[in-house]
Amino acid sequence: MKKATENQQDVNDYINKMWGDPIIVLEQVFFPYLDLMKGSTIVCEIGVGTGRWSREIIKRMNFDNETKLILVDHSSWVIDFLKNYFREEQRIFPLLNNGNNLPISTDGSVDLIFSDGTFIELKLGQILSLIKEIHRALKPGGIFTFDFIDIDTEEAWRHLHTYCDQFGHCFTYHSADTMIRLFSEVGFSLKNRVQIPKSKSVYLVFEKK
Ligand SMILES: C[S@@+](CC[C@H](N)C(=O)[O-])C[C@H]1O[C@@H](n2cnc3c(N)ncnc32)[C@H](O)[C@@H]1O
Repeated sequence: MKKATENQQDVNDYINKMWGDPIIVLEQVFFPYLDLMKGSTIVCEIGVGTGRWSREIIKRMNFDNETKLILVDHSSWVIDFLKNYFREEQRIFPLLNNGNNLPISTDGSVDLIFSDGTFIELKLGQILSLIKEIHRALKPGGIFTFDFIDIDTEEAWRHLHTYCDQFGHCFTYHSADTMIRLFSEVGFSLKNRVQIPKSKSVYLVFEKK
């Protein structure tokens, strides 16, 4: 943030230069489902950071008055940042959660939920709590796309060895079987699995039954 400000650059342009353009990933794992939506659409993003995914998602959403992008994060600093960053955008609603819940009061109201770079840090208990909330918030047939680090991939092992000293306290590594079991026990079916080349991330796409 400080470096972006010093360079008078938008913080998300700055981060994208380091981490890559979110559109390349969104085109593979999220936009195909978003593009199928017709009329008013409600999308939620969990673990938003500075909003570099949100700003691409909102551009792709239709302009119906009822269309909403709900941004959920457990950091009040992030929520305040997002309220200011997206102050001109009437369809974006940043909301604080407690880490385990979704602050969405109407069950079955959300069409699609997206998360990037957040489940890669979560333990299984927290993941299960969020899956139950995602299931509650989504419409039947609704879609949830997220990334995790699949310990059965070479990319995950490379990541573990590279970052254990510096970030060992931060990242979590799970198997795809564990993820699929958690989601299916709550009421989801797996629709797609995408490994991004040279990336630690595997994206899973689940549909609420
Ligand atoms: C590594 S950052 C990724 C931010 C953004 N998705 C990106 O890729 O630039 C993780 C974000 O998730 C948020 N976060 C972590 N755990 C969370 C949870 N259980 N519920 C909501 N937000 C969470 C953090 O506050 C942070 O904004």
